[in-house]
Amino acid sequence: MEIVKVVIPAAGLGTRFLPYTKTMPKEMLPIIGKPAIHFSVQEAINSGIDHVLFITNRSKELISNYFDSAPDLDSLLEDKNKLHEVKDINHIIKTAHFSYIRQSSPLGLGHAVLMAKPFIGKEYFAVALPDDIIMGKKPALAQLIRIARQEKATVIAVQEVPHDQVSSYGVIRIKKQITPNLFQVDSLIEKPSLKDAPSNLAIIGRYVLSHKIFSSLEEISGYATNELQLTDAIAHMLQQNERVFAYKIEGTRYDVGTPRGWLKATVDLAMQDPLHKEDILQVVQKHTQIYIPTNQPLQKVI
Ligand code: G1P
Repeated sequence: MEIVKVVIPAAGLGTRFLPYTKTMPKEMLPIIGKPAIHFSVQEAINSGIDHVLFITNRSKELISNYFDSAPDLDSLLEDKNKLHEVKDINHIIKTAHFSYIRQSSPLGLGHAVLMAKPFIGKEYFAVALPDDIIMGKKPALAQLIRIARQEKATVIAVQEVPHDQVSSYGVIRIKKQITPNLFQVDSLIEKPSLKDAPSNLAIIGRYVLSHKIFSSLEEISGYATNELQLTDAIAHMLQQNERVFAYKIEGTRYDVGTPRGWLKATVDLAMQDPLHKEDILQVVQKHTQIYIPTNQPLQKVI
């Protein structure tokens, strides 16, 4: 089973980051020098994917500029011996093909994925939501692709979340636990209330989907009220006797679609970067001192 294409929906309005997103796509928020969307694309490429389709809109042109080569900049940097500063993005540009489809109005994640239908054909493909950045030893999509190949079926990434947060996610009902991290899914529900949630296993933004998702999306689009949900289409596939699996991803996930998650990702990544670690520690120490009982040495608190 070859899985070589990823769909990256990037047409969200980013209202949580206003006024920044008045002119800038939220996907271009910097996280230690790289735009947030860089990380999902890098993860896809590290997972063996070589064709990236972005679902964008008219205000997201900066994304296509970022994933395009810039020969003038490269030769300038080469002269100054600074080509290493664009090494990662240039490697991505060399490795993958990039395509763009525009979504004319924000009709939901399901609608964005449905726009990829002409691009996909009759194959399994990946979906990565760029609001979710997942860092770990093994790329998250590579973990899902392994399971999709093993089970020859659709696989979605999940994570245990605190019960009071289930209403922010799609949530799965387990049919069967296969290994500590792998579950066969019985049903799914998008953003349930706490009392309706069948578990606390929440969908995080990585999927490997059968092309059959497109007929499910088309079928449910008739009765979708507000936005067309991808979760509802996966639930529809299950009703058509398709097998769907959920895999508890190994890695740390940051929801950079919220200011809180973006800040956490920024600080965490800065702490792993020898160039920034000392500065961050100094800032944190300065603020931590306020809470330190005077008889305790500073190091113990950090
Ligand atoms: C989307 C999906 C939801 C999933 C979440 C993960 O929701 O619809 O099922 O749990 O991403 O980040 P959104 O956060 O776009 O509202």
